[in-house]
This record gives sequence, structure tokens and C-alpha cells, in this order.
Amino acid sequence: MNNHEKLIREHFICPICRCPMEMTEDGKSVKCSGDNPKNKRHSFDFSADGYLSFGATGGDSKEAVAARRSFLRSTPNYKLAAESIYHTVKHYVPECKLLVDAGCGEGYYTSMLADLSESTVGFDLSKFACSAGAKQARRDGKQSLLFATASVFELPINDGCADAVTNIFAPCAEEEYKRILREGGYLFVVGAGKNHLMGLKRVMYEDVYENGPRADLPKNMEHVDCVISHYAMNISGKENIAALFSMTPYYWRTSEADKQKLASIESLETEIEFEINVYKK
Ligand SMILES: C[S@@+](CC[C@H](N)C(=O)[O-])C[C@H]1O[C@@H](n2cnc3c(N)ncnc32)[C@H](O)[C@@H]1O
Repeated sequence: MNNHEKLIREHFICPICRCPMEMTEDGKSVKCSGDNPKNKRHSFDFSADGYLSFGATGGDSKEAVAARRSFLRSTPNYKLAAESIYHTVKHYVPECKLLVDAGCGEGYYTSMLADLSESTVGFDLSKFACSAGAKQARRDGKQSLLFATASVFELPINDGCADAVTNIFAPCAEEEYKRILREGGYLFVVGAGKNHLMGLKRVMYEDVYENGPRADLPKNMEHVDCVISHYAMNISGKENIAALFSMTPYYWRTSEADKQKLASIESLETEIEFEINVYKK
């Protein structure tokens, strides 16, 4: 039995009827047991790129995925923050059988975190994100890492089987993460700290405020830690600055005139501040 086959059989449930799932013999799809009132076996296919499609749609566009991928993988700017996430997860979950990265994007962090776990699944609504993640996992030979399109609010994972859930700059579905975590499992919610991207905001806006806390932080889990990764960086090149900007929420709410101020500069000094909140079930 290969890694994905074992992972699906042990932990996946049908998103329609919640029956157990298994891979078909040809390895091209997964099917549920059909143990439901209509005795119907629901089936979901692997894409040619290797991600599992549960039919969810939406999420980031092809262009947004490409911009994030280019910024994260071709510049070293977020590497320190990524290492901080890695070490925090390793500290709290030194022996991890199943890690779920909810809202994984193109898998920059997922791929790194996969080294900490026997099996890792990255879920994202965006088929473009899952496709990029699956292709990279193939290139890297990471056989314990699977990408699948699904909403973080309805994960096709059985109750109480994940040792760790990571949720990095993506919507936080507290109840769903709590459902899939085992007792004593950990949730890591990563978002922008107070000073994240201050320099970028200073270029565009007259009045610059510190970021407030995330509105969707968990309320019904034990908060055990808050790790801050804070440093300054210099981003050079219009292309990299534009890619970073397109990853931020400011991209959608900045006037054309203010966008032009950023587009006119060749290098950007800014702070990076990731806040890693750790919760225990
Ligand atoms: C800002 S990106 C972060 C991606 C990745 N975690 C990272 O930090 O590189 C947010 C991601 O959440 C995904 N997303 C948004 N809503 C979602 C939902 N309800 N379920 C699953 N993914 C979602 C988007 O498609 C996008 O890939």
C-alpha cells in the first residue's frame, strides 16, 4: 500500500456522506464505502498533476498563486518567518503522524512542514494552488504529502485524527480544526503581527496604523503560546515588490494613485512580523 493509499484509508471521509474512503485499484480516484441510505459510492478523482479534487471551487486565481509562488520561492524574504513556524510546530508536536495545512496555498510552508510528519495534507479551495503544490511535491519526491481541493470549513478528514493543524494567512475555521484534531493535538494560526509590512504601507498611505489582531482567532480552545517572528528586509526589484503587494489584503483596497507610489520604487525596506498563535485541544 503506498503512502497516499494508507493516508486516505486511515483518515479520509466522504465529504458528501461521511463514509470511509479508499483509493481505487488504478490509483486514479478515491471512492467512499457507500454505506449510506442510497448505497451510493461517491467518487473523486486525482488530477493529472496529482492533487485530489473534491469538487470545491474558488479561492486564489492562477495569477495570485503564481505571484505568491514567485515571491516565496525566488526570494529569501519569508524564509526566517517560515523557519519560525517550522520550529514552533516541531517544538509542540515532536512526533507527528498527521499534519493538516488548512488553506495551504501553493504549498510553500506545507512542503517544509511535511518533513515533520509521517503524512501531511494541504487543503485549499483553489485548484491552481493545489496543482502547483502537487507538482512541486512530485519534483521534490515528497511522497507523504498530498494536496486536495476542499474548503477549510468542511474538511474530508475523520474526527480526532490530526496531531497538528496549521492555518497560515488563510480563513480560520476553529470548530472544524477542533473536530479533526486528536485530544491534546495543536492548532497553529499564523497571521500578520502589529508591524507586518509597515514599510510597504508607509510608501502608499499618509496615515499608517499598526495591524489589529485577527478577528477570527479561536475562542474555544486553550491558547498556549504566541510566537513572534519580527525582522526587517529589503525587497529589490519592481517585480518582487509587485508580487508581495498582490499577496496582501491592501491589493484589493488601495486606490490607483496610491498603488502607483509603490509601483514607482525599485527597492522597499519593510518589516516582516508573523504572529504564530498556538492552541491545544
Ligand atoms: C493568503 S493565501 C495563504 C496561502 C498559504 N497558507 C501561504 O501562506 O502561502 C490564502 C489561501 O486560502 C485559500 N482559501 C480561501 N478561502 C478558503 C476556504 N474557505 N477553504 C480553503 N482555502 C481557502 C486561498 O485559495 C489561498 O490559497
